[in-house]
Amino acid sequence: MNVIRSHRWVIVTVPTDRGEDPRDVLTTALATLRDRHPGTTFRTAVLGGSGPAVTTVLDEAASAGASEVVLVSGQTLHDRKMEAWFRRVVGHWLRERADDHGPAPQIRLAAGLTDTATYADLLGAAIDGDTTPARDTTAPLSSPAWDEVPGFARHVLICRGPRCSARGGPETALALDAALDARGLGDDAVLVTQTGCMFPCSQGPVVAVYPDDTWYAGLTADRVARFVDDHLVGGRAITAWAGARRDRVGDTGPGLAG
Ligand code: FES
Repeated sequence: MNVIRSHRWVIVTVPTDRGEDPRDVLTTALATLRDRHPGTTFRTAVLGGSGPAVTTVLDEAASAGASEVVLVSGQTLHDRKMEAWFRRVVGHWLRERADDHGPAPQIRLAAGLTDTATYADLLGAAIDGDTTPARDTTAPLSSPAWDEVPGFARHVLICRGPRCSARGGPETALALDAALDARGLGDDAVLVTQTGCMFPCSQGPVVAVYPDDTWYAGLTADRVARFVDDHLVGGRAITAWAGARRDRVGDTGPGLAG
């Protein structure tokens, strides 16, 4: 078990992609941990969204003379993609730090959390439990494979804003992944991007298809198979499912729906 030492910083990422802690769950948990470990500096950070970035808080820890930094994902559900980005961001910071500022604090990544117990206890257990050293040899943030815009035929935007997410957006996204897989349609054919709120929240789950400029309202999981077959495979937009939309200022284009 690790012992919390002075000059130790603990950085916990806010467990939403918008950087919000709406019920102050994380803030309260960290206050509890500060009481338990008065020699440790506890800070929050975000991988995306608003709030101080992980790299910003790492800079602050290094400037404050921290000898060790423990990074904990505040996500309470297992998220492999998020964990991969976590490692990449830290590896990137270590490389930048080595180039520009000399030695960095030892950084360790705590094991993830689950959603089964009191949040503060989970955070404390993660901080005191097994950690792995962060390395500057992890995969970089750029790659030749990511140098160009992919040559997809269609780009599908699935809204994962809070309203669409509450209206079945996650299930739509899963169903779309499965339907595309089943038809052998990869990113080169259909590029799927999950977005934040795209504004017509009342129509959720909202899905937009480009370059066709078709916006679907209420595209629930049970509609996905027909959506894929008719539109993405057959090229025929299902205009009956299109959401109401305003006229665009100066638009004379041939949108397929709406
Ligand atoms: S949450 Fe999807 S359009 Fe607003």
